[in-house]
Amino acid sequence: MEFIPWENKYVLGVEIIDKQHKHLFSLTNELYERCRYGENAVHEQFIKTLHALVSYVLEHFSTEEKIMEHIHYPRIAEQKEQHASFTKKVIEESKKFESGAHGVPQDLVHFLRDWIVSHIAVFDQVLADYIHHLKKSGITNLPDGL
Ligand SMILES: [Fe+2]
Repeated sequence: MEFIPWENKYVLGVEIIDKQHKHLFSLTNELYERCRYGENAVHEQFIKTLHALVSYVLEHFSTEEKIMEHIHYPRIAEQKEQHASFTKKVIEESKKFESGAHGVPQDLVHFLRDWIVSHIAVFDQVLADYIHHLKKSGITNLPDGL
């Protein structure tokens, strides 16, 4: 059983966003696997996966923000604020583990899971609804992949 199995309820119907969310799930699952093994909480593989996750989160947020700008999303400020505070937190946590400070990797993985799941269910769902609404209204200048 995976730590966060991908389920249909997470599909927002926006191809590029769904694809990236799926990848975030798989990186979080990988991170969970990494912290299940080994006595030492801070080990190389964990850090490596954590870095990969952090950089993918940044890429994902930048994609979402480009989309939001393109469609003049009314709630863009709120979304960006969410992105910025999460980015700050994961970078801080990542640095903590890197410097060897004692942290509980399981706590971090649980935090990541909860954040990603609620980010999709709350904020990205509203964004996806807005995109679907634009499509239905016949707006044709949506970016590719939407
Ligand atoms: Fe997202």
